[in-house]
Amino acid sequence: MSQPISRRMAWAYVLTVTLLAVTGTMQMPIASRYRITAVPGLAWLGDFWLTHKLHYLGATLLLTLASYLATRWVLEWRRNYALTAFGLARCGLLAALIATGAARVLKNLPNVSFAPEPTMLLDWTHLGLAVLLGLLALARLAAKAAYVRPR
Ligand code: HEM
Repeated sequence: MSQPISRRMAWAYVLTVTLLAVTGTMQMPIASRYRITAVPGLAWLGDFWLTHKLHYLGATLLLTLASYLATRWVLEWRRNYALTAFGLARCGLLAALIATGAARVLKNLPNVSFAPEPTMLLDWTHLGLAVLLGLLALARLAAKAAYVRPR
């Protein structure tokens, strides 16, 4: 076996990250400003609360998937597999996205308030990490490289 992760898991990851990327982008908010909502079938992207809740749903799915894969990695797969540079970079970016996303969730709680500057820094870091994750996926495809390799 050259890959420990099944195709079903790989697809679950792709769908979850796509949901997060689409709903995250709509948090900025750009759907109405750039008339994305005028495209037939995409009007729902202008509903901030819907995309906001879907982003939280995506975050829950990502945390579930990441916890499952990290547990199997530690208990099982790491004996036979190692992460490549692409794999290490993806793990690092996902961990940082989860950390900045969790801090943003904290900031959204009604009784928690952050100053405007740290909030802006947090938002830009989260957005920058999301862009880097997309660029990494494209670079990995272009290089035809793997995220894991057999030991
Ligand atoms: C692949 C993973 C993810 C991607 C691509 C992604 C993408 C984005 C983008 C583009 C934004 C809008 C820019 C910004 O305001 O920073 C955003 C906002 C946000 N994200 Fe994520 N995100 C991801 C994971 C997460 C996770 C795991 C959490 C929670 C643990 C999270 C929570 C949030 C929150 C709370 C906001 C701000 C929403 C608001 O305006 O209140 N994100 N995300």
